Amino acid sequence: MMTLNNQASDPPPTCTRCERLAIFRKKNQELYPDFFNAPVPSFGDMSGRFLIVGLAPGLKGANRTGRPFTGDYAGDLLYETLERFGFSNGKYDVRVDDGLKLQDCLITNAVRCLPPENKPKGEEIRQCRPYLIDLLAAMPNLKVVLALGRVAHESFISSLDLKRSAYPFGHGARYSVRDDLTFFDSYHCSRYNTNTRRLTPQMFYDVFSQIRRLLDTPERMQN
Ligand code: URA
Repeated sequence: MMTLNNQASDPPPTCTRCERLAIFRKKNQELYPDFFNAPVPSFGDMSGRFLIVGLAPGLKGANRTGRPFTGDYAGDLLYETLERFGFSNGKYDVRVDDGLKLQDCLITNAVRCLPPENKPKGEEIRQCRPYLIDLLAAMPNLKVVLALGRVAHESFISSLDLKRSAYPFGHGARYSVRDDLTFFDSYHCSRYNTNTRRLTPQMFYDVFSQIRRLLDTPERMQN
């Protein structure tokens, strides 16, 4: 099986930090022997300025293919939007060998293993946070982080040791979290959110458009 970044900031394939998730992984390895069935590594450009934090792999999406959002319904809008705003090169397909490259951008998940019913427990989010902290430290040019949904939002805020109450989650929220780092929120591009139109493609594009503008503005001209 082709693997992706596999940096030190990725969990080992046999990670046992969360007992429930390790047991669930073993069960899925038996049920779906052809699936990736391991913590899904981050995908993209470690020297990029833009980091996207999702929730967790989906059973027949990222947990099957081994690449964040790849094969997940949520990936259709996400990868289309990345292309639209110039953060990718090549065509997204539901395969890790589609040749797609991210430009100036990296995608990770707050929880790297598949959680039952797509719902990680608080303790599992906490157990996985060291990988997010390591990833943030390993991206030397990072300028913008986008959280997809509340779980990603809260995990990122905690990874910087910031007070959650000072940074409430909200679609379109934008915070300066460090001199050199701007943090954006979007509703997660999940099937539920897009089908109910809690998140429309235009709402998603509007967030990316702000991010593109920020990254394209020379630093000396930023506020
Ligand atoms: N697939 C992922 O990799 N992450 C998500 O947040 C949703 C689907």
